[in-house]
Amino acid sequence: MTAIIGKLAPTKRPGELGIHSMDTFTMTVPDLTVADNFYRAFGLDVREEGEKLALYTFGLDHRWMTISEAGQKKLNHLSFGVFEEDFEPMRRRIEGQGVRLMDPPRGIDSNGFWFFDPFGVLVEVKIAEKTTPSEKTPFFLGSCPGGVAGAPQRSKADTVRPTRLAHILLFTPDVQGAIDFYSRTLGLRLSDRSGDGICFMHGIHGSDHHLVAFARSSAPGLHHCSWDMGGINEVGKGAMQMAEKGFSRGWGMGRHVLGSNYFHYVRDPWGSYSEYSADIDYIPADHDWEAGDYPPEDSLYLWGPEMPKDFVHNYEADDER
Ligand SMILES: [Fe+2]
Repeated sequence: MTAIIGKLAPTKRPGELGIHSMDTFTMTVPDLTVADNFYRAFGLDVREEGEKLALYTFGLDHRWMTISEAGQKKLNHLSFGVFEEDFEPMRRRIEGQGVRLMDPPRGIDSNGFWFFDPFGVLVEVKIAEKTTPSEKTPFFLGSCPGGVAGAPQRSKADTVRPTRLAHILLFTPDVQGAIDFYSRTLGLRLSDRSGDGICFMHGIHGSDHHLVAFARSSAPGLHHCSWDMGGINEVGKGAMQMAEKGFSRGWGMGRHVLGSNYFHYVRDPWGSYSEYSADIDYIPADHDWEAGDYPPEDSLYLWGPEMPKDFVHNYEADDER
């Protein structure tokens, strides 16, 4: 089997059942033209597919995200990928836990199985290629030897393009409940947490420190999607690229503690964020990561500007809108 990301063949932890990737997700926004403009500026390959926008990274034929038009911005569904031989055992396990499986929503072509999580988020599990890397993503510093200029003139800087979707952070009314549910159904494992405020979860078959994370709110929602850039310079250039196109609000540049990635978050037109990320921690398939629980002031960021006061705000929740 070839790898869709990186050079290694997909890794697998023997004898254990779990999804290998966060394959794709869908959301709605009030105006597709606004979304097209934002994600194109961000450096993604935005394609019109029927009535929807599909988001790809340049050079890779994998649809990471699909956006359709509806009254307000809202997370629609999450789709996780499993190895073919794990599909039926996983379906049996999840059904055996009393989770009611359902038909795919109308208009969605799917050979996966579908269910709601305890908080009303629609989830699909399907056979898919492993899009989560099977080794730590290379990190480029771009340092030059003596006698050579390292940085181009600003006018000659190229446009940044993310290499892949790295993870998403979701709001949930119950962080512990999310850990319990996604562990027993999808086989995700807790990487680290900060009490009942936020948690980060990884896949067992070799995955970044988190494929999905959950932050507490009164309702489900999408806080951010994160895109790998391959280098800290690309994170900084991305921030500049977006500021020049009018998207200057956000948070960064900085370095996280949990996950260790360098970050810059760009606020999107709906009050959520797209994150430029580089050098996130990696958990190989044969490694048991020891999950920690850290106080908020000692877990969020190692360095960077102060976090904006409204950074963790769920605009999808009725009582926070
Ligand atoms: Fe993130």
